Amino acid sequence: MQQSISTLWLLLTLLLIKQLNHFFHLWKLHTAPNCSIVSVSNYDGLVVRSATKVTADVINAADKLKIIGRAGTGVDNVDVDAATKKGIIVMNTPSGNTISAAELTCALLMSLSRNVPQAAMSMKQGNWDRKKFMGAELYGKVLGIVGLGRIGKEVASRMQSFGMRTIGYDPITPPEVAASWGVEPMSLELLWPQCDYITVHTPLMPSTVGLLNDASFAKCKKGVKVVNCARGGIIDEDALLRALESGQCGGAGLDVFVEEPPKNRSLIEHPNVVSCPHLGASTKEAQARCGEDIALQIVDMVKGNKLVGAVNAQVLASTFSQESHQLIKLGEAVGSVLQSCTTSKRPVSHVQITTQGRSTGQTCLCYQGPEGRDHNTGRRYM
Ligand SMILES: NC(=O)c1ccc[n+]([C@@H]2O[C@H](COP(=O)([O-])OP(=O)(O)OC[C@H]3O[C@@H](n4cnc5c(N)ncnc54)[C@H](O)[C@@H]3O)[C@@H](O)[C@H]2O)c1
Repeated sequence: MQQSISTLWLLLTLLLIKQLNHFFHLWKLHTAPNCSIVSVSNYDGLVVRSATKVTADVINAADKLKIIGRAGTGVDNVDVDAATKKGIIVMNTPSGNTISAAELTCALLMSLSRNVPQAAMSMKQGNWDRKKFMGAELYGKVLGIVGLGRIGKEVASRMQSFGMRTIGYDPITPPEVAASWGVEPMSLELLWPQCDYITVHTPLMPSTVGLLNDASFAKCKKGVKVVNCARGGIIDEDALLRALESGQCGGAGLDVFVEEPPKNRSLIEHPNVVSCPHLGASTKEAQARCGEDIALQIVDMVKGNKLVGAVNAQVLASTFSQESHQLIKLGEAVGSVLQSCTTSKRPVSHVQITTQGRSTGQTCLCYQGPEGRDHNTGRRYM
């Protein structure tokens, strides 16, 4: 019911957008895993969730496309580089699923402390095994939060209500902001050895791949429990398996994997691992919120009110600014001159380039002689 209301809401908003701009058509794909080149080529806007792949081939064939809206956080299913090259805005709704992802993280932390999934499975098999599932309280334990953005901070405030001490690391969030959420900010070197539980909430990028690896596990307390509800690979999967097998890691809650669904099942089948099929954003509320957010963001963009959630806006804004346009034209012109110099059969001893621009209203003459000096300004060329 909730899902159909959110879909209806999305469609109504899309109709509103259509009315705002007659040329602006939106195309919504429900089930197909890959956008079809033929079907997308006539549309100005495209809204997808996580399953639909918007590849470079689709983007390059979509001559009218102006915006790709991703109702959700990750834009891994959209070729953002290909879109940026074509001047297409890619937009996401990063805050719509914050609460849902934070709550699932808390559920995994609780499952790890009390073995709830394992005990439930055992009960279904007809057992009554009380000793095997002895747990530990969260009260008084230390939770290390790596990444204190939207989700990390919400996890902190929820787990504090269980009496956990929350410590955290984030290279960008200011220490006073972390402190205002009840998190003691510190370096990773100080954080690792203090934690009973660690949860990661960073984006996946070169600096966060394998953030928890053999070396960092070795610095942790023996039996530390870890949760990854962010992106597969932030906790190195091979290192995690080694740590689980040696007992250095006492349990792991995993919602995300390097490969989804994972073909290598060694982690999933480990008795101390509680795993989910990437359910962080899978709540009725998050789906509805993300659907509404993307529709509203597109309306705002079309009406020229504001640009929210555009992941490639900065690159596009600078590419299309008047200033950059002039520089791009200049670059192209200089490139053509250099090309004719390098392909010319006659040797070139020096090149003179004259540029004239409306922005300064001045004529600028640049002459690079053999000594590499601008005869106009006297400045040396690099
Ligand atoms: N499981 C799911 O379904 C689900 C749902 C929503 C979000 N996510 C993922 O959760 C993660 C966090 O999302 P968010 O909305 O809180 O993002 P966010 O951008 O609000 O926060 C990320 C934080 O990570 C910090 N960070 C960056 N590099 C870091 C590093 N090297 N060490 C420590 N911190 C670092 C940033 O400064 C930022 O504060 C993302 O990877 C997102 O894709 C997963």
